Amino acid sequence: MNNRFMSGQTSTLISNIGELMTQDAEHRVLTDAAVVIEGERISWIGPASEAPAADEHVDAEGRAVLPGWVDSHSHLIFAGDRTAEFEARMAGQSYSAGGIAVTTGATRAASDEELTRLAAGRVAEAVSQGTTYLESKTGYGLDLENEARSARIAAATVDEVTYLGAHLVPAGADAEAYTDLVCGPMLDAVRPFVKWADVFCERGAFTEEQSRRVLTACRDAGLGLRVHGNQLGEGPGVRLAVEFGAASVDHVNYLSAVDIEALAGTWSGWDASTGTGTRGTVATCLPACDLSTRQPLAPGRALIDAGVQVALAANCNPGTSYTSSIAFCVTTAVLQMRLSVHEAVRAATYGGALALGRESGDDVDGERAVGSIAVGHRADLHMLKAPSATHLAYRPGIPLTFAVWRAGVRAV
Ligand code: NIG
Repeated sequence: MNNRFMSGQTSTLISNIGELMTQDAEHRVLTDAAVVIEGERISWIGPASEAPAADEHVDAEGRAVLPGWVDSHSHLIFAGDRTAEFEARMAGQSYSAGGIAVTTGATRAASDEELTRLAAGRVAEAVSQGTTYLESKTGYGLDLENEARSARIAAATVDEVTYLGAHLVPAGADAEAYTDLVCGPMLDAVRPFVKWADVFCERGAFTEEQSRRVLTACRDAGLGLRVHGNQLGEGPGVRLAVEFGAASVDHVNYLSAVDIEALAGTWSGWDASTGTGTRGTVATCLPACDLSTRQPLAPGRALIDAGVQVALAANCNPGTSYTSSIAFCVTTAVLQMRLSVHEAVRAATYGGALALGRESGDDVDGERAVGSIAVGHRADLHMLKAPSATHLAYRPGIPLTFAVWRAGVRAV
């Protein structure tokens, strides 16, 4: 028995919540609600009039409370800046994977302390805007030593770490020999620090065959899989993700009807009304990246209509999406991708958790679920300076974070 969850912990009652968007299994949205936090977990939710007493009391004064954002796609371990590339893009140049090499140079040149400080600063920036659970990839080291260093720093800084040695073939390297390194010694070096593996399967990055080798080696090493796919054009990314049973395929800007059907097929054993059954491959949309690279927005509406579970993530990185604002992504998803507010918030909370395999689990000794507000789940809460989540879209660009609890601890 884990003592952390036994009685005797400080409890906090948050009452007078104008709108409590739980994103729980029943998709409940409660008004005049209350939540009790005990230690790092949620111990009670319900009508404010029935709330139990607690050690501490926070009056929400009618504000809305949502689950904290779950950002399931970011690249936080980097140094340097790509403002010049961004300016060139805004002047008409198109994005190409080759820009990654600029960040690799700066990242390799940075000390451990500097990389750690930069990554921690990015996490703090995200938390200050309501993000309570974060993934980060490696992928700017691109040699054994620097990928292992990135993985180690990420493991000390974020909640979930993804190995992305297969981000770009570094300058001067032979693609096949580099892929061998990614699948062999580099994988062994990062293995103690990572839970997931990813491959940038795209023209200018890794071919279908190279991607297949990477996914096979990483699966055989026991890692969960995800794929950067269909970002710059139609291609094999989604197909590979489905074939390998990846937890997510991310970007998904250019999808054929066959791709959407294949993704929907992975969810045929899933009961979305209860959040139970066999998980499929989440389609992770990255609208801030789409805008910053002037790519068409991912077809989030069509994916949801087809029955695909969708996540929204910020994709914070120096090349294609230098933002950690999930609120911006939610706003864009509503205004431009035609998701409802509830769908967009769900994709940025529960959807992210699903992409990370963390949407369920409230065992005392196990990992707690994140991304939804339910008894036993991790107390990750985001209180808005607004009476409802609709204000995220209705008041675009206005910073609406009022308070944040991360694993029961007040962070904002
Ligand atoms: O997810 N697409 C590949 N990786 C990053 C961008 C990397 C970069 O350009 O630095 C992304 O957008």
